[in-house]
Amino acid sequence: MATAVLTETTVYFRKPLDGKIALVTGSSRGIGSAIARELADRGAAVAINYRASLSSAEALRNEIRQHGGESDLFCADVSVRQEARDLIRQVIDSYGRLDILVNNAGITRDRSIRKMTDEDWTEVIDTNLNSIFYCTSAAVPFMVEQKFGRIVSIASFSGQAGNFGQANYAASKGGIIAMTKVLAIELARYNITANVIAPGFTTTEMVAAIPANIQEQILARIPLGRFAQPEEIAKAAAFLICDGDYITGQQINVNGGIYM
Ligand SMILES: NC(=O)c1ccc[n+]([C@@H]2O[C@H](COP(=O)([O-])OP(=O)(O)OC[C@H]3O[C@@H](n4cnc5c(N)ncnc54)[C@H](OP(=O)(O)O)[C@@H]3O)[C@@H](O)[C@H]2O)c1
Repeated sequence: MATAVLTETTVYFRKPLDGKIALVTGSSRGIGSAIARELADRGAAVAINYRASLSSAEALRNEIRQHGGESDLFCADVSVRQEARDLIRQVIDSYGRLDILVNNAGITRDRSIRKMTDEDWTEVIDTNLNSIFYCTSAAVPFMVEQKFGRIVSIASFSGQAGNFGQANYAASKGGIIAMTKVLAIELARYNITANVIAPGFTTTEMVAAIPANIQEQILARIPLGRFAQPEEIAKAAAFLICDGDYITGQQINVNGGIYM
């Protein structure tokens, strides 16, 4: 993957994302932190966005720096329009450009439709879907100017297949998939691609919150018989970013076969 480069004085290995700037929303924990780590490993300078989990965000930044990478922390609640737009501005002010936007931040507020409150609905749509509009619409003018951009948004199999108790979540994730197709059509002419990763159940705090007996029932529905590791989602995102120049408007399902 790394290319050997010979100069008069030294030999070094060029990584595929050397010189690229990446922002991963919600990268203090879980899938987002695995994506941030993977992109840093491939040479990108990574802006880590967190909302509440400062200490785990700091630990990730320190780890990336200890491995010779570049990374900084950016606190923002991306469900809040102005905070999301300020986040994009702060990243560009810090690094001078933004090449890769990974829209990852997400929450669940699961309840059947008979019990779901307006707050459950609004909080999930604001965090999982509206945030992507705020961040992407703020980043696109810079990507257009650069004639380069890679946008990857994290949806879910729930947005493709539906899942009990997730009317709000499935609507947000289905919205991401539909929105991504439009971004792909509108932005291709500027060498900006937009794609979706649709994970199945993945071992993070989001899944740890599911009661054990329900986890057993879910496992029985997964052909590969296990949950994904966050690193497996991260590798798919990195593939799209590093090797996906001719891929746009697509969904990569990393779900163990739970939805085909
Ligand atoms: N785990 C799964 O099974 C699964 C399956 C399919 C799709 N996904 C999707 O994958 C993404 C990551 O999920 P995960 O499992 O890694 O979840 P997680 O472990 O609960 O982590 C969520 C991350 O999002 C951040 N976040 C939440 N709300 C935010 C906000 N308003 N502003 C900024 N950051 C915010 C959190 O940051 P703080 O802690 O700092 O607030 C945290 O870093 C989500 O979009 C989720 O829907 C997950």
